Amino acid sequence: MAVKTSLIVAMAQNKCIGKDNKMPWHISDDLKHFKALTTGHPVIMGRKTFDSILGYLKKPLPQRRNIVISRSGFKNEHNISIFTNISDAINHGKSVASDEIFIIGGAEIYTQSIQYADKLYITKVHKNVEGDAFFPEFNEDEWTEIERTDHLSHEPPYSFITLERK
Ligand SMILES: NC(=O)c1ccc[n+]([C@@H]2O[C@H](COP(=O)([O-])OP(=O)(O)OC[C@H]3O[C@@H](n4cnc5c(N)ncnc54)[C@H](OP(=O)(O)O)[C@@H]3O)[C@@H](O)[C@H]2O)c1
Repeated sequence: MAVKTSLIVAMAQNKCIGKDNKMPWHISDDLKHFKALTTGHPVIMGRKTFDSILGYLKKPLPQRRNIVISRSGFKNEHNISIFTNISDAINHGKSVASDEIFIIGGAEIYTQSIQYADKLYITKVHKNVEGDAFFPEFNEDEWTEIERTDHLSHEPPYSFITLERK
């Protein structure tokens, strides 16, 4: 079976995804949703997102092969895989995956890799948020919504939306 490439993101109405290398909100159900979807699968991320995760967890994401993309010769003491370009990272992810790999950000990596995605898992936070990292513009006509769960009484209100490439 071909390994699927999925991209997972939480974004505000104005497509903001981050501020000062942190998440701009705390939605614990979204963290659980992220964990449930990605556990057991390789996760691919930019070096700044990896730094952000280390800031929160003090370790890589557990029970997932962490694959980090960096040009700068980045090294660290953790048991992760590091690649200097996106296609080598994706190929490595696919070689160790059972059925799905997840591209988990941040903005630079989403921008350069959305073209490779078969599926988008979006947590849409229904408000505008200030920040310095944004999800790229993408053509929604190329995607079909296959699943949606609204959590509109939560503050902030949000929806889990799954899109599949047409
Ligand atoms: N809301 C969400 O779902 C979500 C998810 C993930 C991240 N975020 C947020 O997004 C922000 C981080 O995003 P970002 O755009 O600043 O950084 P990023 O995409 O996480 O990482 C950027 C780094 O990746 C490396 N890189 C990028 N393109 C490359 C390429 N083609 N080849 C080799 N290396 C490459 C470079 O690392 P070197 O500098 O080491 O060369 C670059 O500095 C944070 O605020 C974070 O909290 C939000």
